[in-house]
Amino acid sequence: MTPLSTYSADHQLLVQEAAAAANLIDPVAFTPGGYLYTLVTNAIPSPLVPIRGALVRLWVTRSKFYPNATFGIRPYTLEGIRFARCIANIDQSYDQNGYDIFVVSRADYLKLFRKVLKLCRTQTCTALPPVLPDEQLEVLRQNTLGYLERDNLKRIKNLGGRPKRGLLLTGPPGNGKTSACRWLWEECQRHGYEYQIVSPDAYQAARRSCNPVQAVRDLFTVNRCGIIFFDDMDVALRDRDTVRETDDQAVFLSALDGIQVNEGVVYVFTTNCSLELIDPAFKRPGRIDLVLHFHLPDAHLRRRLMDRWHDDLKAGINLDVAVAQTAGYSFAEVEELKNLLILRYLDTHRWEWAWAMEQFNENRADLAKQQRHLGFAHLATASPNGSHGE
Ligand SMILES: Nc1ncnc2c1ncn2[C@@H]1O[C@H](COP(=O)(O)OP(=O)(O)OP(=O)(O)O)[C@@H](O)[C@H]1O
Ligand SMILES: [Mg+2]
Repeated sequence: MTPLSTYSADHQLLVQEAAAAANLIDPVAFTPGGYLYTLVTNAIPSPLVPIRGALVRLWVTRSKFYPNATFGIRPYTLEGIRFARCIANIDQSYDQNGYDIFVVSRADYLKLFRKVLKLCRTQTCTALPPVLPDEQLEVLRQNTLGYLERDNLKRIKNLGGRPKRGLLLTGPPGNGKTSACRWLWEECQRHGYEYQIVSPDAYQAARRSCNPVQAVRDLFTVNRCGIIFFDDMDVALRDRDTVRETDDQAVFLSALDGIQVNEGVVYVFTTNCSLELIDPAFKRPGRIDLVLHFHLPDAHLRRRLMDRWHDDLKAGINLDVAVAQTAGYSFAEVEELKNLLILRYLDTHRWEWAWAMEQFNENRADLAKQQRHLGFAHLATASPNGSHGE
């Protein structure tokens, strides 16, 4: 048996088993890709069914999204249409996608797809975008979700443009770069776009593999229209001239350049490394088309962040004072003050802004003290009696 004939035999068996479990007629198999979340979170699950007598349950708490099995069939119903998810993780050496399939009756196949599409379009977005100046949020939206809109991509392709776009989000820590990615990621789910999140660990693992260029390229590839997020990749993006050259950049850039884009893809990179330190080769058009800087919030934006706080909290403090006293704070620091206020409230049943500010400054001072003892540079200057130098 070749791997192909083994797979096709397995596939037929899985489709038959799923059809029997969910009462499907003339079953067809599919993979929902970016529509997975919408499809399964809106459907009503039925109890798990074994495959040829085998069922392995999986313990997870967010049961609505996960099928809660590594081996078995989960039938579902979405607005009267029956379908099933069949998972058979038989062997880690297989491409598991082929062993995680959805099955529906042929007569319902298009109906199901249209229903999911409609749900994607009509469902209200639960995730709030980060607080940003209106025009910056619009630029972010236009260059990511707007760019991937079918009509937009069609126009670009007809005019001979590249269906590939790179964005770099920069700025000091705690001002919304990762929050922006999180929001876009949820919007991708809602629109049925594919998305991929490349973590520093996944990147390093790909770098260490036997074919790093291909492995990194795989990380940066989506099969359909979508966004690839590459959060906090400072190490890979530093300038070769100012920072010691590593072959990291070479691998990274050649992987990025070698990707064939069939539909449309947006790369979103984030870093809090300053723009001058980033390799000019990486910043050139074609790799990065747009840089968005996430600044510290001004009074207006801090106010908008606080407007999102709980009504009780807002009624319990003087917001004008809070806005004025947080000048120069990042969004994350303003949010930390909110958390301190809430913790204090649980103890005292009072909203004590002055206490929160004091506690915040104390915590910052403690952290600054500890930081002086962290890092390798200080070990070299450690005094003979073992204490660390400053
Ligand atoms: N623009 C923003 N609007 C609303 N909340 C924000 C914003 N920026 C930061 N926050 C709050 O601060 C937290 C940390 O922010 P985030 O992780 O987005 O920062 P970052 O810019 O990615 O920082 P880093 O450079 O350290 O990775 C968020 O979880 C959120 O609570
Ligand atoms: Mg971040």
